[in-house]
Amino acid sequence: MFQPAAYNAPARALHWLIVLLIALEFVLAWLMPGIRRGTQPVGLVAWHVGVGTTILALMALRIVWRVIGGAPAMLPAPRWQLRAAHAVHGLLYVGFIALPLLGWANASARGWSVQLAGLVSLPALAAQGAGWARAAGDVHQVVAYGLLGLIGLHVLAALQHQFIVRDDLMRRMWPRRS
Ligand code: HEM
Ligand code: HEM
Repeated sequence: MFQPAAYNAPARALHWLIVLLIALEFVLAWLMPGIRRGTQPVGLVAWHVGVGTTILALMALRIVWRVIGGAPAMLPAPRWQLRAAHAVHGLLYVGFIALPLLGWANASARGWSVQLAGLVSLPALAAQGAGWARAAGDVHQVVAYGLLGLIGLHVLAALQHQFIVRDDLMRRMWPRRS
Protein backbone atom coordinates (compact mmCIF):
# COMPACT_ATOMS: atom_id res chain seq x y z
CA MET A 1 0.00 0.00 0.00
CA PHE A 2 1.14 3.59 -0.61
CA GLN A 3 2.81 4.91 2.54
CA PRO A 4 3.02 8.69 2.71
CA ALA A 5 6.30 9.98 4.19
CA ALA A 6 5.86 10.38 7.94
CA TYR A 7 7.36 12.60 10.60
CA ASN A 8 10.18 10.80 12.41
CA ALA A 9 9.49 9.15 15.79
CA PRO A 10 10.91 11.91 18.03
CA ALA A 11 8.88 14.56 16.15
CA ARG A 12 5.68 12.52 16.55
CA ALA A 13 6.38 11.77 20.22
CA LEU A 14 7.04 15.45 20.97
CA HIS A 15 3.93 16.58 19.03
CA TRP A 16 1.58 14.36 21.07
CA LEU A 17 3.30 14.80 24.43
CA ILE A 18 3.06 18.58 24.01
CA VAL A 19 -0.63 18.31 22.93
CA LEU A 20 -1.40 16.45 26.19
CA LEU A 21 0.53 18.95 28.32
CA ILE A 22 -1.14 21.95 26.63
CA ALA A 23 -4.58 20.41 27.25
CA LEU A 24 -3.63 19.86 30.91
CA GLU A 25 -2.25 23.42 31.14
CA PHE A 26 -5.54 24.97 29.99
CA VAL A 27 -7.48 22.83 32.48
CA LEU A 28 -5.11 23.96 35.26
CA ALA A 29 -5.50 27.60 34.15
CA TRP A 30 -9.29 27.28 34.39
CA LEU A 31 -9.30 25.44 37.72
CA MET A 32 -6.65 27.46 39.53
CA PRO A 33 -7.84 30.34 41.72
CA GLY A 34 -7.94 33.81 40.10
CA ILE A 35 -4.46 35.32 40.48
CA ARG A 36 -4.39 38.63 42.32
CA ARG A 37 -1.85 40.76 44.11
CA GLY A 38 -0.41 38.61 46.89
CA THR A 39 -1.47 35.23 45.41
CA GLN A 40 1.19 32.65 46.28
CA PRO A 41 2.39 30.05 43.75
CA VAL A 42 1.10 26.99 45.59
CA GLY A 43 -1.32 24.18 44.72
CA LEU A 44 -2.82 24.40 41.21
CA VAL A 45 -0.93 27.64 40.52
CA ALA A 46 2.36 25.82 41.18
CA TRP A 47 1.19 23.06 38.82
CA HIS A 48 0.40 25.69 36.14
CA VAL A 49 3.92 27.09 36.45
CA GLY A 50 5.55 23.62 36.53
CA VAL A 51 3.66 22.25 33.53
CA GLY A 52 4.00 25.56 31.60
CA THR A 53 7.78 25.67 31.98
CA THR A 54 7.93 22.01 30.91
CA ILE A 55 6.02 22.93 27.74
CA LEU A 56 8.54 25.73 27.12
CA ALA A 57 11.49 23.33 27.44
CA LEU A 58 9.87 20.66 25.23
CA MET A 59 8.94 23.26 22.58
CA ALA A 60 12.56 24.46 22.49
CA LEU A 61 13.72 20.85 22.11
CA ARG A 62 11.12 20.28 19.41
CA ILE A 63 12.24 23.29 17.39
CA VAL A 64 15.89 22.20 17.62
CA TRP A 65 14.87 18.69 16.52
CA ARG A 66 12.77 20.13 13.67
CA VAL A 67 15.83 22.03 12.39
CA ILE A 68 18.10 18.96 12.70
CA GLY A 69 15.64 16.20 11.83
CA GLY A 70 13.58 18.03 9.19
CA ALA A 71 10.03 17.18 8.13
CA PRO A 72 8.51 15.24 5.25
CA ALA A 73 7.59 17.27 2.16
CA MET A 74 4.07 18.64 2.36
CA LEU A 75 1.32 16.68 0.64
CA PRO A 76 0.00 18.21 -2.58
CA ALA A 77 -2.65 20.86 -1.91
CA PRO A 78 -3.74 24.21 -3.34
CA ARG A 79 -1.10 26.90 -2.81
CA TRP A 80 -3.21 28.89 -0.35
CA GLN A 81 -3.61 25.80 1.83
CA LEU A 82 0.13 25.12 1.88
CA ARG A 83 0.73 28.75 2.83
CA ALA A 84 -1.95 28.63 5.51
CA ALA A 85 -0.49 25.41 6.95
CA HIS A 86 3.02 26.96 7.08
CA ALA A 87 1.66 30.10 8.73
CA VAL A 88 -0.37 28.20 11.35
CA HIS A 89 2.49 25.81 12.18
CA GLY A 90 4.93 28.74 12.43
CA LEU A 91 2.57 30.66 14.72
CA LEU A 92 2.08 27.60 16.92
CA TYR A 93 5.85 27.24 17.33
CA VAL A 94 6.43 30.93 18.07
CA GLY A 95 3.28 31.17 20.18
CA PHE A 96 4.09 28.26 22.47
CA ILE A 97 7.53 29.73 23.14
CA ALA A 98 6.22 33.27 23.71
CA LEU A 99 3.23 32.26 25.88
CA PRO A 100 5.19 30.53 28.68
CA LEU A 101 7.82 33.31 28.58
CA LEU A 102 5.05 35.89 29.17
CA GLY A 103 3.72 33.82 32.09
CA TRP A 104 7.24 33.45 33.49
CA ALA A 105 7.87 37.22 33.24
CA ASN A 106 4.57 37.88 35.04
CA ALA A 107 5.45 35.32 37.72
CA SER A 108 8.81 37.06 38.25
CA ALA A 109 7.08 40.46 38.53
CA ARG A 110 4.93 38.92 41.27
CA GLY A 111 8.10 37.88 43.12
CA TRP A 112 7.49 34.15 42.61
CA SER A 113 10.46 31.86 42.20
CA VAL A 114 9.89 29.87 39.01
CA GLN A 115 11.05 26.28 38.72
CA LEU A 116 11.25 24.14 35.60
CA ALA A 117 8.78 21.27 36.18
CA GLY A 118 8.85 22.22 39.87
CA LEU A 119 12.40 20.87 40.10
CA VAL A 120 15.04 23.23 38.71
CA SER A 121 15.11 26.88 39.79
CA LEU A 122 15.03 29.32 36.89
CA PRO A 123 16.26 32.92 37.02
CA ALA A 124 13.77 35.80 37.27
CA LEU A 125 12.85 37.15 33.83
CA ALA A 126 11.88 40.54 35.23
CA ALA A 127 12.44 42.59 38.37
CA GLN A 128 9.78 42.27 41.04
CA GLY A 129 7.05 44.83 40.34
CA ALA A 130 8.33 45.68 36.82
CA GLY A 131 5.46 47.39 34.97
CA TRP A 132 5.99 45.65 31.61
CA ALA A 133 6.03 42.22 33.23
CA ARG A 134 2.88 42.97 35.22
CA ALA A 135 1.19 43.85 31.92
CA ALA A 136 2.59 40.61 30.46
CA GLY A 137 0.00 38.77 32.60
CA ASP A 138 -2.88 40.23 30.56
CA VAL A 139 -1.02 39.63 27.30
CA HIS A 140 -0.41 36.02 28.45
CA GLN A 141 -4.14 35.49 28.82
CA VAL A 142 -5.01 37.04 25.43
CA VAL A 143 -2.25 35.09 23.65
CA ALA A 144 -3.42 31.85 25.33
CA TYR A 145 -6.93 32.24 23.92
CA GLY A 146 -5.60 33.33 20.51
CA LEU A 147 -3.52 30.13 20.39
CA LEU A 148 -6.52 28.07 21.45
CA GLY A 149 -8.34 29.43 18.38
CA LEU A 150 -5.36 28.58 16.20
CA ILE A 151 -5.33 25.02 17.59
CA GLY A 152 -9.01 24.81 16.64
CA LEU A 153 -8.15 25.75 13.04
CA HIS A 154 -5.26 23.25 13.00
CA VAL A 155 -7.52 20.43 14.22
CA LEU A 156 -10.24 21.33 11.70
CA ALA A 157 -7.65 21.21 8.92
CA ALA A 158 -6.46 17.77 10.14
CA LEU A 159 -10.06 16.49 10.24
CA GLN A 160 -10.76 17.91 6.79
CA HIS A 161 -7.78 15.97 5.45
CA GLN A 162 -8.87 12.81 7.24
CA PHE A 163 -12.53 12.76 6.30
CA ILE A 164 -12.98 14.96 3.22
CA VAL A 165 -9.71 14.92 1.24
CA ARG A 166 -8.89 11.40 2.57
CA ASP A 167 -5.19 11.76 1.79
CA ASP A 168 -3.97 9.92 4.92
CA LEU A 169 -2.32 13.05 6.27
CA MET A 170 -3.04 12.02 9.88
CA ARG A 171 -0.84 8.99 9.48
CA ARG A 172 2.18 11.29 9.00
CA MET A 173 1.84 12.47 12.61
CA TRP A 174 0.05 9.51 14.21
CA PRO A 175 1.98 7.89 17.12
CA ARG A 176 2.06 4.55 15.25
CA ARG A 177 2.28 4.28 11.51
CA SER A 178 0.34 1.07 11.08
C1 HEM B 1 -1.87 21.63 21.36
C2 HEM B 1 -2.28 21.40 20.18
C3 HEM B 1 -1.40 21.26 18.96
C4 HEM B 1 -0.26 21.93 18.59
C5 HEM B 1 0.46 23.04 19.36
C6 HEM B 1 0.18 21.39 17.32
C7 HEM B 1 1.28 21.81 16.59
C8 HEM B 1 1.68 21.32 15.38
C9 HEM B 1 2.77 21.81 14.58
C10 HEM B 1 3.67 23.00 14.97
C11 HEM B 1 2.87 21.05 13.47
C12 HEM B 1 3.86 21.22 12.32
C13 HEM B 1 4.95 20.21 12.37
C14 HEM B 1 6.08 20.63 11.44
O1 HEM B 1 5.95 20.48 10.21
O2 HEM B 1 7.09 21.09 11.96
C15 HEM B 1 1.82 20.05 13.53
C16 HEM B 1 1.57 19.08 12.58
C17 HEM B 1 0.48 18.23 12.61
N1 HEM B 1 -0.51 18.18 13.57
FE1 HEM B 1 -0.61 19.27 15.26
N2 HEM B 1 -0.70 20.41 16.95
C18 HEM B 1 -1.67 20.29 17.92
C19 HEM B 1 -2.75 19.43 17.95
C20 HEM B 1 -3.07 18.54 16.96
C21 HEM B 1 -4.23 17.66 16.96
C22 HEM B 1 -5.27 17.58 18.09
C23 HEM B 1 -4.19 16.97 15.78
C24 HEM B 1 -5.17 15.94 15.26
C25 HEM B 1 -6.46 16.09 15.26
C26 HEM B 1 -2.98 17.37 15.07
C27 HEM B 1 -2.56 16.85 13.86
C28 HEM B 1 -1.43 17.21 13.20
C29 HEM B 1 -0.99 16.62 11.95
C30 HEM B 1 -1.73 15.50 11.18
C31 HEM B 1 0.19 17.24 11.58
C32 HEM B 1 1.03 16.96 10.31
C33 HEM B 1 0.64 17.87 9.22
C34 HEM B 1 1.37 17.51 7.96
O3 HEM B 1 1.52 16.32 7.67
O4 HEM B 1 1.80 18.42 7.24
N3 HEM B 1 -2.33 18.33 15.81
N4 HEM B 1 1.09 20.25 14.71
C1 HEM C 1 1.72 26.74 27.20
C2 HEM C 1 1.78 27.19 28.41
C3 HEM C 1 0.70 27.99 29.10
C4 HEM C 1 -0.66 28.10 28.84
C5 HEM C 1 -1.47 27.42 27.74
C6 HEM C 1 -1.19 29.02 29.83
C7 HEM C 1 -2.52 29.43 29.89
C8 HEM C 1 -3.02 30.37 30.76
C9 HEM C 1 -4.36 30.88 30.76
C10 HEM C 1 -5.48 30.43 29.79
C11 HEM C 1 -4.45 31.80 31.75
C12 HEM C 1 -5.68 32.63 32.10
C13 HEM C 1 -6.53 31.95 33.14
C14 HEM C 1 -7.85 32.68 33.30
O1 HEM C 1 -8.61 32.75 32.32
O2 HEM C 1 -8.08 33.20 34.41
C15 HEM C 1 -3.16 31.88 32.40
C16 HEM C 1 -2.86 32.71 33.46
C17 HEM C 1 -1.62 32.77 34.06
N1 HEM C 1 -0.52 31.99 33.78
FE1 HEM C 1 -0.36 30.69 32.25
N2 HEM C 1 -0.18 29.41 30.66
C18 HEM C 1 0.99 28.81 30.26
C19 HEM C 1 2.25 28.92 30.85
C20 HEM C 1 2.54 29.65 31.98
C21 HEM C 1 3.83 29.72 32.63
C22 HEM C 1 5.10 28.99 32.17
C23 HEM C 1 3.69 30.55 33.71
C24 HEM C 1 4.71 30.99 34.75
C25 HEM C 1 5.97 30.57 34.80
C26 HEM C 1 2.31 31.00 33.73
C27 HEM C 1 1.78 31.86 34.66
C28 HEM C 1 0.52 32.38 34.62
C29 HEM C 1 0.07 33.46 35.48
C30 HEM C 1 0.92 34.20 36.54
C31 HEM C 1 -1.27 33.72 35.13
C32 HEM C 1 -2.18 34.81 35.69
C33 HEM C 1 -1.93 36.05 34.82
C34 HEM C 1 -2.72 37.26 35.29
O3 HEM C 1 -3.95 37.11 35.48
O4 HEM C 1 -2.10 38.33 35.45
N3 HEM C 1 1.63 30.42 32.66
N4 HEM C 1 -2.31 30.99 31.79
